[in-house]
Amino acid sequence: MSQRIGIVTGGGDCPGLNAVIRAVAKSASRRGWESLGIVGGYQGLLEPQQCLPLEYRDLDGLLARGGTILGTANRGAFSAKVGHGTSRRLPSQLLGDTKAGFDKLGLTALVSIGGDGSLSIAQQLFEYGIPIVGVPKTIDNDLAGTIFTFGFESAVCCATDAIDRLQTTAESHNRVMVLEVMGRYAGWIAMYAGVAGGADVILIPEIPFCFESIEKAIADREAMGKRFTIVVVAEGARQTGGEFVTSSSEVSQGETRLGGVGAFVTHEIEIRTGKEARCCVLGHLQRGGSPTTFDRVLCTSFGAEAVELVARGEFGRMVAFLGTHVGSVTLLDAVEHLKTVPTKGGLVDTARALGVCLGD
Ligand code: F6P
Repeated sequence: MSQRIGIVTGGGDCPGLNAVIRAVAKSASRRGWESLGIVGGYQGLLEPQQCLPLEYRDLDGLLARGGTILGTANRGAFSAKVGHGTSRRLPSQLLGDTKAGFDKLGLTALVSIGGDGSLSIAQQLFEYGIPIVGVPKTIDNDLAGTIFTFGFESAVCCATDAIDRLQTTAESHNRVMVLEVMGRYAGWIAMYAGVAGGADVILIPEIPFCFESIEKAIADREAMGKRFTIVVVAEGARQTGGEFVTSSSEVSQGETRLGGVGAFVTHEIEIRTGKEARCCVLGHLQRGGSPTTFDRVLCTSFGAEAVELVARGEFGRMVAFLGTHVGSVTLLDAVEHLKTVPTKGGLVDTARALGVCLGD
């Protein structure tokens, strides 16, 4: 059966979105199917519909291009996330209008590329009758059901490069350098970049920290003649018994904007140790630019597999990296809980084995 596939990107942007769009459109085109990009997230399905035909010849240069040529949104009517792991039901009127837009465009399937918020919406649209397939996107790597989301490795490479650069200043000035990285309520970016960059202290949301432990780590290094320390702190890290540090009082659709824990940790380290300390907030640099080699391959495999799922009529599923190959899981399995860093085993044990302080 010939298909007309809609492709929509939702939530925050992330390296690799265009690579997935390319892979879906190319694989679809090889089957003689049409692809239509939905502009501006799910909103583009509503009246007046906004879309971009994706012809084979338009796909050049997309593999390495950052951002999304379709535009995206993580605010507005289609925001489903309302906080740590919880999601909102969309009003049935909105679901109905979206389905009407889908039908009006003559679409036969929708590929939704997004994180937990966009894929929670995808699940609701699926329940409402839209044949939909998800592709896991987020630098945070916090989607369940897949070992890696695309964009994560690119963000980790950016953060690792930042640590390498901070190391030289830390060493030259005998300073404590604190790097705040993104990741929301999961410490994946901090953990991977911290290990890859040889950080001395890594603070993640999954392991509440206390300053005595950080102070001791710095003192132990001084005793060994190491006059500098690198601290990586995830934006969602917090003190034992403390609250998340937020960068503003803005709460949009219930989702608080995290940020500022790096400055807090830096200030406290200066007071407690008397050492000079500086904070660097990496921010949106982690979300920008070209995807890494690994992410390009992952995006391409994800896009091709999404088209396979459409061909097999396997809707309500999300493509997933399962360790040895790309397969799929149900959208429900992917969004029912946030995937956080296990506090036993894996990289946490590796870091501890090397004497990295995790703040506890
Ligand atoms: O989910 C991706 C992410 O970059 C988080 O790591 C971060 O907390 C958030 O989005 C920032 O969102 P915004 O771009 O809306 O400030």
